[in-house]
Amino acid sequence: MKGLKLLAFLVIISLACYRYWRCRVENKVEDEYWAQIGCQSPPRWSAKWPLGLKKVFKGIMSIKDGAVLQFLLEEYEASGTTHEQWLLGSRSDLGLGHRTKNFAPLLGSGIFTQDGPAWKHSRALMRPQFASNRYENFEEMRKCVEILIDSFSSSGAVDLQPLFFRLTFDTATFLLFGKPMSSLRSIEVASQESEFAKAFRIGQGYLSKRAQLGDLYWLADTPAFRHACRTSRRFIDQAISQSLETVDTKQGEDKKQYDFIDALIQETHDMKVLRYQCLNILLAGRDATAVCLCWTIYLFSRHPHVLAKLRSEVAAVAGLDDNATSPSRELLKKIKYLDCTLKEVLRLYPSVPVNN
Ligand code: HEM
Repeated sequence: MKGLKLLAFLVIISLACYRYWRCRVENKVEDEYWAQIGCQSPPRWSAKWPLGLKKVFKGIMSIKDGAVLQFLLEEYEASGTTHEQWLLGSRSDLGLGHRTKNFAPLLGSGIFTQDGPAWKHSRALMRPQFASNRYENFEEMRKCVEILIDSFSSSGAVDLQPLFFRLTFDTATFLLFGKPMSSLRSIEVASQESEFAKAFRIGQGYLSKRAQLGDLYWLADTPAFRHACRTSRRFIDQAISQSLETVDTKQGEDKKQYDFIDALIQETHDMKVLRYQCLNILLAGRDATAVCLCWTIYLFSRHPHVLAKLRSEVAAVAGLDDNATSPSRELLKKIKYLDCTLKEVLRLYPSVPVNN
């Protein structure tokens, strides 16, 4: 046993030495290249420990403490906004880097994990969802918001975060399946949604840890992670099976609406392809929007004059209460202060603060 431990230790040390040596050689080659073309090399991320180990450790701890932005701010202040980083001896040029392999257990192959022609194809499938000014979209979202407001208790205090996640779960599933899964309405779906939400959150936590580890991403793999991936898959598979069952009846209908799942099903009935495409869109449509809503309300409570100004703009452009005009893309464009407010919220508290 002692011998085995020693062997493992020696293997790790040798790997670390090899990576360290590789970094130095590649840095030298790069420096020569920059000198040859008369260009300055990007500043390197200052790291005191070899292989940026201290940064990796600090980064992981910041995720644990929910302080990633603070960590990044300190790092950028120390190294500048443009710099080159080699963490654990690995570096990725512009592109998805290790994302495809890292995200695979939870997100398989979908718009977030694809590159090149596969990504282009997913993008084309998604485009009609955003291209048209669909009345049904606004109408369905209005209903989801009304249900959200009805669910507030009259006692005063309300924890909005889980409600926003359910709201955006509904709006995202509407975009995907043409109908919201109505987690705010039905207790049965709400409990399935919360099981899925928990699993998806655990899964995403692992993806983030794996991203920190560079090409050693595979080290962050546990039964809990695999279980979370299975639960997420099971949930989405059920919704897809329902769509597959109804696909024949839908074909006879004169459908005005474009649902992402219908477009996918026209191409394939392969469960794996359908599942991962849907999980990718669910991730895209649910989390970033819910997080943005949470921060917006938080900031409104601290800056009530912004809320008052926004409210008067909405009243002037669209009207309030029963007299309000139904939302449309044209109408939203006229509410300029809303656009500015959301942009400022995203600037201060970006929903997606790190991209690879
Ligand atoms: C406040 C809300 C949102 C924010 C801040 C946001 C932010 C982002 C960011 C930063 C990316 C790039 C991620 C990356 O590849 O690294 C992205 C991609 C994407 N988002 Fe959003 N998003 C929001 C809402 C939505 C919604 C509601 C949908 C609808 C389903 C959506 C669909 C997508 C899709 C499909 C992609 C992948 C695009 C591609 O790779 O071509 N997003 N979003």
